[in-house]
Amino acid sequence: METQILDIGEDSLSAAKNILEEDGLVAFPTETVYGLGADAFNGEAVKKIFEVKGRPQDNPLIVHVHKDYDIERIVCDIPSYSYKLAERYLPGPLTMVFKSRGRISPVVSCGLDTIGIRVPSHEGGQRFLKFVDMPIAAPSANISKHVSPVTAEHVYADFCGKIPLILNGGKCSGGIESTVLDCTGEVPCVLRSGLVTREMIAEVAGDCTVFVPKAGERVRSPGMKYKHYSPNCRTMLFEYERLEEAAAEYKKERAAGSRAYIMCDDGCAKRLLDKIPAEHMLLLGNSGEEIASNLYFKLREGERVADIIIAIAPEDRGGVMVGVMNRLTKACGG
Ligand code: TXA
Ligand code: MG
Repeated sequence: METQILDIGEDSLSAAKNILEEDGLVAFPTETVYGLGADAFNGEAVKKIFEVKGRPQDNPLIVHVHKDYDIERIVCDIPSYSYKLAERYLPGPLTMVFKSRGRISPVVSCGLDTIGIRVPSHEGGQRFLKFVDMPIAAPSANISKHVSPVTAEHVYADFCGKIPLILNGGKCSGGIESTVLDCTGEVPCVLRSGLVTREMIAEVAGDCTVFVPKAGERVRSPGMKYKHYSPNCRTMLFEYERLEEAAAEYKKERAAGSRAYIMCDDGCAKRLLDKIPAEHMLLLGNSGEEIASNLYFKLREGERVADIIIAIAPEDRGGVMVGVMNRLTKACGG
């Protein structure tokens, strides 16, 4: 199969719609990462997502809709705090889980009676969703367990020859996947951290909990139990306080002939300037938002140039950094 990368316009959107109507898959941009989409009403099409990704059969997909779509057609029991959250944060990187009306294909939710709904803010992504005017089931457009894609080229690297069309919307600005929020209870509960933080949700909803699985307890967001986001090279992760050890590790690897690279934020890089040449650094930036935006891009760059990525965790741990650290830890083997 030939895989086309096309800019978003009338022709490419018509092509995308045709593909979706014939049970096919289309990759499309969102503000977080690229998605690999299928018609969410069409079980046969949705099955193909699991096949091409190599995704475990018990990890449900989320459903993407345009901003004028009436989600009450597909989910019910929407609590009042969700309307407030939607008012404030949608379109945007927040996925809300509601009770399903049973109309979306059961393949999407892997047998759960709930559905995660996402309204992305990316202009090209919105245009696509509006044009096809159907709910689109989509996980991140990467081979299962690989680093999520933030450019059309990243999607191509994983799915060349396996999907017909990638809609090109440039580099995703957000950089880590949406916050997944369980909205089936009285108090919303974060199942996966992201750019819409627990604090931002609590500010609007009055309260917000974070799901932390206890040993033996069922994982409520099934995707969280799998190894994830891993580049195709060796990785190590050091705490911020242990940057000297990271530098020593770099030196040892280089001496052994390995292409070792240090991945860290800009502040940390300054402290290492006398030990690590700038061209062997994968810089993540300064603020939490900047680091989130660069993380997958730099991990993908790293796997192309490095035998080993030696990452140093940023010092700041609040807000957006909760989600960043979750990804970084998993990328480096948990
Ligand atoms: O930003 C994003 O969310 C990206 C873009 C493409 O929209 N999508 C994405 O999808 O990250 P995916 O499939 O890689 O992650 C969806 C997460 C998984 O951890 C999954 O287990 C969880 O959402 N999830 C999906 N449906 C759920 C449900 N009904 N209840 C609880 N968790 C659910
Ligand atoms: Mg994913």
